Amino acid sequence: MKIAISTGGGDAPGLNAVIRAATLSALRRGWEVTGIRDGFDGLMFPERYPHGDGVWAMTRNSVKGIAHLGGTILGSTNRGNPTEYPVQLADGTWTTENRSDELVGKFRAAGIDALITIGGDGSLQIGRRLNEAGLWVVGVPKTIDNDLDKTSSTFGFDTAVSFATECIDRVFTTATSHSRVMVVEVMGRYAGWIALNAGMAASAHAILIPEIPYDLRPIADLIARRTARGANFAIVVVAEGAMAKHGSRSVLGKRVDQAERLGGVGEHVAAELQELTGRETRVTVLGHLLRGGTPTAFDRLLGLRFGAAAVRAIDEGYNGVMVALNPPDVDYVPLVEAVSRMKNVPVDCDTVVSARDLGICFGDEIVDGM
Ligand code: F6P
Repeated sequence: MKIAISTGGGDAPGLNAVIRAATLSALRRGWEVTGIRDGFDGLMFPERYPHGDGVWAMTRNSVKGIAHLGGTILGSTNRGNPTEYPVQLADGTWTTENRSDELVGKFRAAGIDALITIGGDGSLQIGRRLNEAGLWVVGVPKTIDNDLDKTSSTFGFDTAVSFATECIDRVFTTATSHSRVMVVEVMGRYAGWIALNAGMAASAHAILIPEIPYDLRPIADLIARRTARGANFAIVVVAEGAMAKHGSRSVLGKRVDQAERLGGVGEHVAAELQELTGRETRVTVLGHLLRGGTPTAFDRLLGLRFGAAAVRAIDEGYNGVMVALNPPDVDYVPLVEAVSRMKNVPVDCDTVVSARDLGICFGDEIVDGM
């Protein structure tokens, strides 16, 4: 048996733990393991790797001491979607073409029987299409955003929330010392999981998430009442995908894969709050800091469990599935179901209800408290 491992899309803490566990579990079964560089580029475009290292034969040594390292030793890319490779036409314009059959052919030529693809919604969609084109695929859910359905959590999310919480804790120092309103913008794409969990853990006064369109007047009102009580500072956590009621998302541009690059909402929120409250306001954008660094013990453990489970799935003959956390177990769910919808924050979930009980404002109603 020969399997391949590939990591695609944005890096997330815990990727190397998955690679280590999948490699060791496969080697212990007497299988061969191929690591593909930069998504599928290493296999699809070997000429781009002049040292012949577009694919690697993975050994115990290749995965020694990597579980605690952020990033991915295999590299990653947002550009390598084999179902939509950019092609320039004779008239100079660009189009895309589906080259999945060609890529599946390259897997076969390399003698690879099955692929473990580790990624978020984009990479798992690609995995689904390669599976439809005849490749044996098992997916592993990765993303700091936690927006993948059919798994109670993705690895990377806990590290992002823990670090965001620490950063928000640190912002309190300046908020209290300078009597300021401090706005902290966090990643998360179209889901508010990071903002909600870190904002609540760090006792923010307001949390703005994409699932609850906001109006800043209730927050200005809260800040005014806090000031009247002598609490002359406030912390507002904003998800990058948050949107004002009747407003639109703050988009910085497009990525190479044509996905929206979100960002900038923190600046809008800060400017408007300063205007509404007359209080000095500052913004901190955490951005890619949330994707870096050492994975927490939770993410390392989840990554190791997912990697080992992906190999068990192949060993048990499962094809076209994604490993998923269904506490206390790791299950296999059909890939097609896992990528069929995005997992947003349910606005009536326990964390939102509890945050409201604590007096945290979501910008949708006046809050009496805090
Ligand atoms: O999906 C992970 C994520 O970090 C999102 O939170 C964010 O919107 C996006 O990736 C940023 O992508 P890039 O690194 O391409 O700017």
